[in-house]
Amino acid sequence: MRPLKPFGDRIWICDGPRVRMMTIPFATRMTIVELEAGNLWVHSPLEPTPEVQEAVEALGEVKFIVAPNKIHSLGVGPWKEQYPSADVWVSPRFRERHPSAPVDYVIGADAPQAWGGQIDILCFGGSSFLDEVVFYHNRSGTLILTDLIQRHDPAGESWFWRFVKRTVGVLGLSGGTAKDLLCTFGDLDAARASAEALLRWDFDRVVIAHGMCITEDAYRTVEEAFDWALSTD
Ligand SMILES: [Fe+2]
Repeated sequence: MRPLKPFGDRIWICDGPRVRMMTIPFATRMTIVELEAGNLWVHSPLEPTPEVQEAVEALGEVKFIVAPNKIHSLGVGPWKEQYPSADVWVSPRFRERHPSAPVDYVIGADAPQAWGGQIDILCFGGSSFLDEVVFYHNRSGTLILTDLIQRHDPAGESWFWRFVKRTVGVLGLSGGTAKDLLCTFGDLDAARASAEALLRWDFDRVVIAHGMCITEDAYRTVEEAFDWALSTD
């Protein structure tokens, strides 16, 4: 099976092994974008394997390694080791949790100019815990989400984890923002402003890092998933 799946114009996804976080099983996924200069932007890298590296190198040179929030650190170090000339860009609070990680730049309010205006960013606000940066790839009209919306595939899950994930609000097509994560959003004004800003992007597909990506009715699906933020006054 080919490790990289095309997801749109110059964007691919790569599914990795299931990992456990606090005993909970998570499917994993990284995203790769080929920038117009021909080099690669790698989002939420998984542990590199020879098969994945071979496929990635066939696309181009790895130039940017991106950690979208402070939880997703898994492949950052190993990818930097494999591609030392690539720049590691991390979310605003990534360093707090990973002080020894090989970080080159911290993502701020504006998209790095190095990405050539092809990928827009939004630092999603309002949470005391999650510092997720959301990305929009202009060329393919793709929104790239990491933990903010999860849609864990019920296929292959035990009845127990299906029950847990349904209860937490992250199972399958009706998934969304996990209820435990919602509890960390103390500043709902900031969350609403972020959700509104995100919905100003003209996307029609969404990469979901944990679970089922959205390729149909994407805008409305995301709008509904962020209703908890949008409906506050
Ligand atoms: Fe995650």
